[in-house]
Amino acid sequence: MMRRVIIDTDPGIDDAIAILFALAHPQLDVAAITTVAGNIGIGTTTRNALRILALAEQAVPVHAGAARPLAREHADASAIHGRDGLGGVAFPEPVAPASDEPALQALIRMIGEAPEGSLDILALAPLTNIAMLIREAPQIARRIGRLIAMGGAVREPGNVGKRSEFNIAHDPEAAEIVFSAGLPLTLIPLDVTRKVRADAAYLERLATLGTPQAIVSRDLIAAYFIGTSGGESRPLHDPCVPLLALRPDLFTPEAMRLSVDCSQGELAGALAPGEHPLDVAMGVRAQAVLDILAETLGHPSSPRTTSHQ
Ligand code: RIB
Ligand code: CA
Repeated sequence: MMRRVIIDTDPGIDDAIAILFALAHPQLDVAAITTVAGNIGIGTTTRNALRILALAEQAVPVHAGAARPLAREHADASAIHGRDGLGGVAFPEPVAPASDEPALQALIRMIGEAPEGSLDILALAPLTNIAMLIREAPQIARRIGRLIAMGGAVREPGNVGKRSEFNIAHDPEAAEIVFSAGLPLTLIPLDVTRKVRADAAYLERLATLGTPQAIVSRDLIAAYFIGTSGGESRPLHDPCVPLLALRPDLFTPEAMRLSVDCSQGELAGALAPGEHPLDVAMGVRAQAVLDILAETLGHPSSPRTTSHQ
């Protein structure tokens, strides 16, 4: 069944793979991409979204969003994603500019115009844009179908602090607003994404598939090997989001009540037992996820020009 989605993202190496996968899959209709500063600054994340679309030869509106967290300084992850945010991997130049309509206005317009519950949000980044939507137009936010977000660490150590994960720690106030809004939120924490990694054989498999999407994803993952043991890539965090949207059966959800640490200390962004009920993916059939990722990148559905504006 076709699902219409908006991808909120800070591309970013793993974001790029997730976006290429979503664009390539026949059951996902990417209606728009909204960007946020996150990994590498709003100018670069927005330009990278346009470059990824150029590579996939797809016309999807891109709307630039928040240039900084709600209430903190911006701290990027360029050490992981490289100065260009895409690990130095060759991508085409953008073939179209970003829309003049900012992300917040686009989210309000598109969700307001869509039949209630028909539009899902795939959140691959700090939740600043989504929190602004909830704050600015709560009645519109309640029309969202599913909100699936990569973020947090439950039983796993963090990746930017001993208990905090980048997307949540970058903007804890935004995460707390999103968690407490009562939206149909599924969170995919490091507990799951750290189980989804590529090895050298997987890179070979992608290279053999031969499509631009598969070859570039191979190069992106190779860039993600840098700084690891060399035996396997860093976790493929963000691709888990569109994969759960399509195949929730490959993930094991647990109902939890969580809150976000919004202190200024080293625990900022840590998840703790709290009051907000949400589904948290805590298990995954990682090989099945990797297989679908490779097969889809190797057999992208025909490019569509998106009529959505
Ligand atoms: O912690 C992983 C998350 O932070 C991913 O979304 C990655 O792209 C970075 O933004
Ligand atoms: Ca990301």
